[in-house]
This record gives sequence, C-alpha cells and structure tokens, in this order.
Amino acid sequence: MKFNPFRPNSIAPPDLFHGRDEEMVFIEKSLFQTKNGNPQHFLIEGERGLGKSSLFLKVAEQAVGTTLLINDEKANFIVINVELDSSQSFVDILKTIAADFKRALSEKEKIKTLAADVWNFLSKWEILGVRYHKLDDSLIQPYDILNELVLNFERLLKQAKGHIDGVLVLLDEADRPDEKASLGELVKLLTEKLSKRESNQVVVGMTGQPGLIAKLKTSHESSSRIFTIFALKPLTTTENKAVIQSGLAIANRINKEQTTIDPDAMELISQLSEGYPHFLQEFAFKAFEIDTDNNICSEDVKEAAFGNIGALHQLGHKYFNDLYFTQIGSDDYRRVLQAMSRFSDEWVNRTMIKSEISIKDTILNNALQALKTRNIIIPNPGQQGEFRLPTKSFAAWIKAFYMLDEEPFRNHQS
Ligand SMILES: Nc1ncnc2c1ncn2[C@@H]1O[C@H](COP(=O)(O)OP(=O)(O)OP(=O)(O)O)[C@@H](O)[C@H]1O
Ligand SMILES: [Mg+2]
Repeated sequence: MKFNPFRPNSIAPPDLFHGRDEEMVFIEKSLFQTKNGNPQHFLIEGERGLGKSSLFLKVAEQAVGTTLLINDEKANFIVINVELDSSQSFVDILKTIAADFKRALSEKEKIKTLAADVWNFLSKWEILGVRYHKLDDSLIQPYDILNELVLNFERLLKQAKGHIDGVLVLLDEADRPDEKASLGELVKLLTEKLSKRESNQVVVGMTGQPGLIAKLKTSHESSSRIFTIFALKPLTTTENKAVIQSGLAIANRINKEQTTIDPDAMELISQLSEGYPHFLQEFAFKAFEIDTDNNICSEDVKEAAFGNIGALHQLGHKYFNDLYFTQIGSDDYRRVLQAMSRFSDEWVNRTMIKSEISIKDTILNNALQALKTRNIIIPNPGQQGEFRLPTKSFAAWIKAFYMLDEEPFRNHQS
C-alpha cells in the first residue's frame, strides 16, 4: 500500500498548491497596505473546482504567519475564514463572522488578554446568538449587530496595537446566501463604517462562483466597487506539471517505494485536465492508484481517465452526468454538445456547430431547442441563434472524454 498524495476531494494543502501568482502578489500587497492603514479588499470569482477555497487557505496561512510571504516576511493577522451557505440571513452571516472571530482570538492567548473586552463581548455574544435565534426575526436589529461587530474590530485594533498587523475577513462561497441576505449591503456598510471610524486595518476578501458580483449588486448597487476583482483562470501547463511533481515529491517522502512519472504521462494528465485543478487532482490521483510498477506511464493515465471507474466517470458523477446523460436521451444531442465544447463557453451559432460535425438542420434545431429548454445550454440574450455551454469546466470535461476515444460512451452506466 502506498500513500497517494493527490487530493481530488479536498482543499489543496500549501505544499501541493501551485499557480495563482497574480492573485497572491495582489493579496500580499493588500496585507501590507492593510497593516499600514489602507486596506485593498478583493473579490475572486471562479467556477466550481477551480481552486477558490485552496487559494483562501493559502492566503489564511500566510496572513497568520504559518507560512512566509513572498518577501520572506511573516505576517501577523487575525484571520476570520468562513464559508457562507444558502440558508443564511444578514444576521446569520454576521453571527458566523463573529463566531470565527472568537475562534481566531482563542488561538492567540496574548491578544485575548490584551483585548479582554473584545473577548468578553464575543463570548457573551455567542450566548446572545442563541437568544437571537429564538427571537422573532422582526425583533432583531441587524444594523445594531453590524455596529457591534465594527465596534469590536475597532477595540481590537486599539487594544492590540503593535501586536497584530490587522484583521483579514475571508468569506468563501459568498455566492450562496440568498439575495435577501443582502450580502452586498453588509460588506459595503461594514467597510464604510470601519473607515469612518478610522479602523483601517481590516481587509475583506470574498470568493464565489461567477454571478457573485451581480448578486451583490442586487442589495447594493456599488458594493462591487469596494473590491479589486479577479476572475480565477485554469492553471498553465507549467503549473499543472509543478502540481504533479510536488505530489510525487510528497509521496516519495512518505513512501518507501519511490514513484516516478514519464514525461508523456505528465503531459497527458496536464492536457486532459485543461488546467482545472480539480480535474488535475482527479486524473493524478487515479493514475497514481492504477500504477503498479512505481512508474506512471501514459497507459496508466489513459486507464485512469477512461476506465470504467476512471476519473472522467468520477467527475461525471460529481458534476456533469445530470447535464450530459440523465437529461439527454439522444446521441445526436450529445454530438451537438461535443461540437460546442470545442469553443469552450464561447457563444456558438449553427454554422460553427456544422463546421465541427455533419448533422441535418432539423436534428440540429431540435437539439438546440431541447438543450435550451433543459437549461443545458444558454441562449445569447443579445444575439438570436447563439448559444453557449454553461461553464468552461463542462466543456473541458466533454473534450477530455473525446480526446482519445471517439466512442467513449459505450461503457457508460449512468
Ligand atoms: N492551486 C492549486 N494547485 C493544486 N491543486 C489545487 C489548486 N487549487 C485547487 N486545487 C485542487 O483542486 C480541487 C478544487 O479545489 P477547491 O476546493 O479549492 O476549489 P473551489 O473553487 O473552492 O471549489 P468549489 O467551488 O467546489 O468550492 C481540490 O481537489 C484541490 O485540492
Ligand atoms: Mg470551495
């Protein structure tokens, strides 16, 4: 038995993490600016599995000083790192932030003593939290709670001055709360109130799926203006390979038997993944598992990807089967999706589809109509007759399926 270092089902630990240089440089600068009183808030949008939570973990570890910054310095932030969810209201989000604020303080004995008022407040607030929960919603004053939180950030910064660099608030899955939770308004008010009170050492980072910015705007038109915005991209080929090499290095430190990989096998994993970190981890994990002679070759990768319990089926089960198999009975319709996948998530018209596959007009029309009705493809509101796939990762998955095998579905059991 060998330890498998790849993580298709969990956040990447910092030693398996590569890429995101642009975002990391910005965030590090932002931490420096925050320490000196000019916070640069940031918002990162990215599809499922693109590495948002892993990036935030890396940022959190650097901000608390567990790992060093790029300039080899050690930061010393109080880091609040929470995941939001669809059931949360405005008040629930504030309570979640406060609860993690308490956890973050509890890990810093000295700061806890210096800022005893804040600690007491957070301890009491949790009890109040239970009461709030039992109260009629209409009796809760959301803005009072926001003000209390602001006041306690201010107190902390004053009482622990010189002992901390500031506070970093990371909100993951920020697209999930309902529009009624008014997250846009919440962050706008929070950051404005803090700067009015000259508590300028609090920085907010937020991440969620595409659509987050639009959602924030529904509760406050200018909420997105407070953020510097990044759209997370797939990893580059070099970064893909660096992830695989780091994984093997981790494995070779733990396992007695050393594992190597052929260059063409590494290339194939990288190509199949198209830089989607989740895909990369899935392909690498399976290839590592399937290998029996301690050298991963391209045959191992092919079996890992295309086999009946392979990575593409795993990814299908996790994300795409419903779109690609359950909802579609016709192979012709799948061929249309296959043709569209060559254009990733760009707008595509009938001529473009017909340049990729030969298909009768009537069948193509029926396919587009059916796929549109089932929300599998999205019609262009600005241009009749144009459609696109919902995500780049869906396109990448379809392309991978067809990369080596023109008839990959003969073995499929959905
Ligand atoms: N920069 C990276 N380097 C290596 N692996 C990564 C990187 N980013 C993410 N991964 C891996 O990719 C997968 C998805 O990562 P993560 O959970 O961080 O994505 P996410 O965008 O938060 O996904 P979701 O939207 O589902 O929450 C995980 O298996 C993780 O280990
Ligand atoms: Mg995540």
